[in-house]
Amino acid sequence: MEVLRTADEIRDVNTRYHDLAAASYDFKWGIDFGDVGQRQVTSKIRKVLGPALEQGFEYSLEVGAGTGYFSLNLLRAGIVRHATCTDISPGMLRALLANAERLRLGVKTARADAEALPFAEHSFDLVLGHAVLHHIPHLERAFGEFHRVLRPGGWIVFAGEPSRFGDRLASVPKRAAMAAAPVWRWVIRAAPPPPPPTSPNAAMNGDEHDLEEVVDIHAFSPGDLARFARTAGFADVRVRGEELLANCFGWFNRVLESTADPDGVPMLWRQYAFHGYLLLQRVDERLLEPRLPPAVFYNLLLAARRP
Ligand SMILES: C[S@@+](CC[C@H](N)C(=O)[O-])C[C@H]1O[C@@H](n2cnc3c(N)ncnc32)[C@H](O)[C@@H]1O
Repeated sequence: MEVLRTADEIRDVNTRYHDLAAASYDFKWGIDFGDVGQRQVTSKIRKVLGPALEQGFEYSLEVGAGTGYFSLNLLRAGIVRHATCTDISPGMLRALLANAERLRLGVKTARADAEALPFAEHSFDLVLGHAVLHHIPHLERAFGEFHRVLRPGGWIVFAGEPSRFGDRLASVPKRAAMAAAPVWRWVIRAAPPPPPPTSPNAAMNGDEHDLEEVVDIHAFSPGDLARFARTAGFADVRVRGEELLANCFGWFNRVLESTADPDGVPMLWRQYAFHGYLLLQRVDERLLEPRLPPAVFYNLLLAARRP
């Protein structure tokens, strides 16, 4: 039976889920702050922003910044000069600051809900986010905030938002991976994962999978994203789609890996999964993205300008 949750409950579970996920987040999602990470992040933003990217941005604000994947890579690439990163999860912000320190990057952080940003109007040239809109209960309020804190002429860019079709499509490789998992573990000689530690938090929260169902509250059509931006007063609204083959491959492998003790997954397998994903990303980019409508891809990207 579907349990209806209030916006406050969703925000609370988001905070706790991401606090728990913070320590292993970069490893789980293969987040990189070297050349590969910079290329990935820059190419996503270029896809939707086009030539407006080349001028760079003086002051950026990221919402739901997590461990810093987008902002830290954009600082390193010189596309953003002063980055402010916000997140509802203090654990994520601690991980972000540790990454920034390791990379010797200066960054401001603030714990904030995307629906109530603690900044004056016209404070930023770019407001961005990756894989965050689908967690936010009241998107009209959040878009209103993005508009308020942007200076006129500034841009919003959001990437990594699940499309409705892609979300349904992803269930196919996920189910296939669950079915193939016992044979796969036998081939690579890996044991099932150890049971999760019983901490007071774990007992309170239930297992990670259950929480994921609570925090992922939206999937979008391209029209939905465009409408949120236009209703908030943005112009030059663009929505693109990306990753089809790469995502099916990625989900299949991630679900397989989640069924094994991480120490038992051979490095060779991890290399194959990572490089296979990058290869299929290029196939998507060159062959499929220019030919198919945004709605059929797994991820949607949105850019728009404050007039
Ligand atoms: C899927 S993670 C993505 C993190 C990061 N952007 C990345 O791409 O690695 C989503 C992030 O959004 C944050 N978040 C969830 N709900 C939020 C809200 N209402 N306001 C601000 N951040 C939120 C979570 O704490 C988490 O760090």
